[in-house]
Amino acid sequence: MATTTSPSEGSSLLSEREQVAERLLAASARHSFDPDTELDWDAPLVPGLWFMPAHLVSLYGTPLWERMSEEQRIELSRHESASIASAGIWFEIILMQLLSRHIYAMDPRTGHVRYALTEVADECRHSKMFARLLTKLETPWYGPSGTTRFLGRIMKTTAPTPAAFMATLLAEEILDRTQRATFPDESVQPLLRGITRIHVIEEARHVRYAREELRRQMATAPAWERAYTRLTSGESAVVVSRSLISPKVYGAVGLDIGEALREARASEHRRETLRWSAEKLVEFLEEIGVIHGRAERARWRQAGLL
Ligand SMILES: [Fe+2]
Ligand SMILES: [Fe+2]
Repeated sequence: MATTTSPSEGSSLLSEREQVAERLLAASARHSFDPDTELDWDAPLVPGLWFMPAHLVSLYGTPLWERMSEEQRIELSRHESASIASAGIWFEIILMQLLSRHIYAMDPRTGHVRYALTEVADECRHSKMFARLLTKLETPWYGPSGTTRFLGRIMKTTAPTPAAFMATLLAEEILDRTQRATFPDESVQPLLRGITRIHVIEEARHVRYAREELRRQMATAPAWERAYTRLTSGESAVVVSRSLISPKVYGAVGLDIGEALREARASEHRRETLRWSAEKLVEFLEEIGVIHGRAERARWRQAGLL
């Protein structure tokens, strides 16, 4: 891992940063969506279709799952989908603030800043889309616990740049992997397929932007910022992985919350699904030196993502 950067390397990193931004701006101009007009919000939900692929539901394959009726399983997928959308809005609102902080003192004429503003606009549309989905699904607004929300409030206000991009990538890549499995799946509601398709297309650019910036940051940021990023990556992984599915979803479909939580945590299929969702991200974070050392790897394992 590079720890020092010469002036000429520094300026070539900057021009590379601009090249990436210009490519992303061109791609945004070609493929951006307005979910309000792109999706048919008035179409009724289709009876018998899932709200995410069955194998992505947290209890899939557990003894409890085997005892559930098909209707109850589909109902659980509706609430888990709402829980993920609620967590998605929470992540995106944090991300909009992190991006605004990142460009606060930068030259707004650069492609790098124009792309950050484009991404804020994307996330704004996404959060409105997820909020509209919650209304359509007629579920509660889930979202993380009060403690987690408090941790998020501290993180989004104080995290140094590389830690901010690491947290961004964490939320974006994990959701991206499951959404890529959702939109082509014919057993899933057309509305959910449409939403995940829009999100996957626009998030691919966000992932690129965050990966490139994090790679640069881990080569150029002050030593304490890089150390902070390594130390907090495992904590962020635990928070993100636990905030996706609210325990309240189990109660909402008539299951015992304690029993459902125990079965989901003991499920080898679930662990495998979580590991799969973070697989490419973990590989990248290892490559650029964010995940390294035994203690950090242990925390990632605890998050179920490694
Ligand atoms: Fe998004
Ligand atoms: Fe994003």
